[in-house]
Amino acid sequence: MKKLFKLLAIICLTTPVVAQNNTPVYLDSSKPIEQRIEDALQRMTLEEKVKLCHAQSKFSSYGVPRLGIPELWMSDGPHGIREEVLWDEWKGAAWTSDSCIAFPALTCLAATWDVDMSALYGKSIGEEARYRGKDVLLGPGVNIYRTPLNGRNFEYMGEDPYLSSRMVVPYIKGVQQNGVAACVKHFALNNQEKYRGHINVEVSDRALYEIYLPAFKAAVMDGGAWSIMGAYNQYKGQHCCHNQYLLNDILKKDWKFDGAVISDWGGVHDTYQAANYGLDLEMGTWTDGLSWGKTDAYSNYYLANPLLEKIKSGEIKEEVVNDKVRRLLRMMFRTSMNTNKPWGSFGTEEHALAGRAIAQNGIVLLKNDKDLLPINPDKTKKIAVIGENAVKIMTLGGGSSSLKVKYEVSPLEGLKNRIGNAAEITYATGYASPLTDKRDPKYVVPEGYKAPDAEKLMKEAIDIAKDADIVLFFGGLNKNENQDSEGTDRLSYNLPYGQDKLITELAKVNKNIAVIIISGNAVAMPWVKEVPSIMEAWFSGTESGNAIASVLVGDVNPSGKLPMTFAVKLEDYPAHLVGEYPGDSINVKYNEGIFVGYRWMDKNKTKTLFPFGHGLSYTKFQYGKATLSAPAMRDGDVLTVSIPVKNIGKVRGKEVVQLYIGDEKCSVERPLKELKGFKKIELAPNEEKVVEFNITLDDLKFYDESVHDWKAEQGKFNVFVGASSTDIRSAVNFTLQ
Ligand code: BGC
Repeated sequence: MKKLFKLLAIICLTTPVVAQNNTPVYLDSSKPIEQRIEDALQRMTLEEKVKLCHAQSKFSSYGVPRLGIPELWMSDGPHGIREEVLWDEWKGAAWTSDSCIAFPALTCLAATWDVDMSALYGKSIGEEARYRGKDVLLGPGVNIYRTPLNGRNFEYMGEDPYLSSRMVVPYIKGVQQNGVAACVKHFALNNQEKYRGHINVEVSDRALYEIYLPAFKAAVMDGGAWSIMGAYNQYKGQHCCHNQYLLNDILKKDWKFDGAVISDWGGVHDTYQAANYGLDLEMGTWTDGLSWGKTDAYSNYYLANPLLEKIKSGEIKEEVVNDKVRRLLRMMFRTSMNTNKPWGSFGTEEHALAGRAIAQNGIVLLKNDKDLLPINPDKTKKIAVIGENAVKIMTLGGGSSSLKVKYEVSPLEGLKNRIGNAAEITYATGYASPLTDKRDPKYVVPEGYKAPDAEKLMKEAIDIAKDADIVLFFGGLNKNENQDSEGTDRLSYNLPYGQDKLITELAKVNKNIAVIIISGNAVAMPWVKEVPSIMEAWFSGTESGNAIASVLVGDVNPSGKLPMTFAVKLEDYPAHLVGEYPGDSINVKYNEGIFVGYRWMDKNKTKTLFPFGHGLSYTKFQYGKATLSAPAMRDGDVLTVSIPVKNIGKVRGKEVVQLYIGDEKCSVERPLKELKGFKKIELAPNEEKVVEFNITLDDLKFYDESVHDWKAEQGKFNVFVGASSTDIRSAVNFTLQ
């Protein structure tokens, strides 16, 4: 009898459950996801489970055809939906229906300091991904801006953990509301491209937790990200795509991440580690997936046949794979098998205009002596536009974020669209870059290519600059190798292709010159005193030219603020002064610890070109006195800081009001101040608003390495409210009791 009961129990537990309407539970979307996962899992053979854990093509992974579980499709990210590529190659598949809208680069999004812009970005790119049948969007990226030489900074959100944490969350939610998983990358410490495949980062726990992890933590715990991409580099001697500390201990245990960890393409190196140290889905291990030995290469991935063999031999437990499959199924039920997901939309005017609005909010006016900008239509009959970046396509190149776009408006076109016949616009290249991005066939150096004659280009530019009413120089970086581009870092902090000399020469012949930098990185400006106006316009996507023109003529009042410090010279960045870059090719030591960006500039009293948080407007804002709701804080209290801000200029404008907090005395060294709040407000001339920020105990804490936890010490805290990290308009203080 007992035996019969046991047999019955086994049959009940192992027989897949079928709902009354005969739909298997795992296909019944009215059932809770966890129940569906367990049901699907017990129907799968070991072989089917292992198949789920690795790629089947360059950008897709297996489903379980027998059970009606579809394949999973992924796409870069993070600025638009990448073109379709061939099954096993990076090369484009030459579709005619995959030209997307390119949104501004993430540095530009961060420069908006506007969480609504981030939500709009996420929603729009999520819709594009959904329409194209993508289940996972490979982005956003939130690696911290440690050095301006990092070729991939343009795909990230700047130097500050608080700013990037706040900005990443709405993006993720916007994407995922479309039934598309955001895949937040590159976890973690991927702060340089040089040696990225193997360099081992040595960083203190405190810097790891205070600087490099917060945006990822916010992405998971506040944004609810459904997937995360491991980085190429190593930490504590383990590759980040299979890293016990980062993936198992921090991400999955401490942060309770329930989604899937996806490897960066080719970031997996070992079956045992990949199985046990937190990876769930292996992608991109060999580029040519079809011709590896007698079987296809995908079966030879570390998490394919080698894993199957190790499970069969008992070296790896089946439970290890079950955990991965649960996570992957969870992601599939949220995306590919989500029956409530919307249809999405693609290449629409609505998305293009969303991109334009983000660009308009992110463009930063760095300098504007004598109000040279906006362009005065009454005094401007002749405009000289100079520089290759006025016409260069910027959505192509740069590595995996390269896009095939429906269209891209260049700055020159944007100006012509806006100005029409109201003024004469002349153009000269001024300088030219060689075509060097070898990975993109469109950029292959043609045979017999000769660098253009720099002297001749400069002369042509000077000739048109001389008698113009205003000179608009469009320069900066581009998406070629060793510029703003994946896989390589910049070789110099200075502008390339002789631009520094050209700008100096142009400024000599015409004092009315505005320099518009197009880049994803800070650049040196040895000519900063010679030109009255400077603008950072980033890589701004499909509508970039129209967005830039609207700011130059004053249809839109600039309101972006820098998400990173623009230092005078490279050695002013702590990574280059006291830290290491790029390391000795095996290890790189982050000796500067938590003192990254403005934290270092404050500590060292280093003068910058333009500080973190800086950005001008065509109007002026007057800040009143900051007040606090109470003079002291006890645990659990919320203190409110209030400050009136008034537009005292003649035009409507937006201001980003920034709140920094500093601990006056502490048992460990702390930054003078750290960003803990920001609000973007819009004010008509003469209008005043009172801006309020709430401060809680968490805003006062540091990571205490001795107890491995966050802690705040009693005493005095300074609160600074200002228009940038150095333009502090009012300060108050309180005590923590
Ligand atoms: C990049 C990732 C990207 C992946 C797929 C890798 O080289 O590091 O960011 O998502 O390729 O294109």
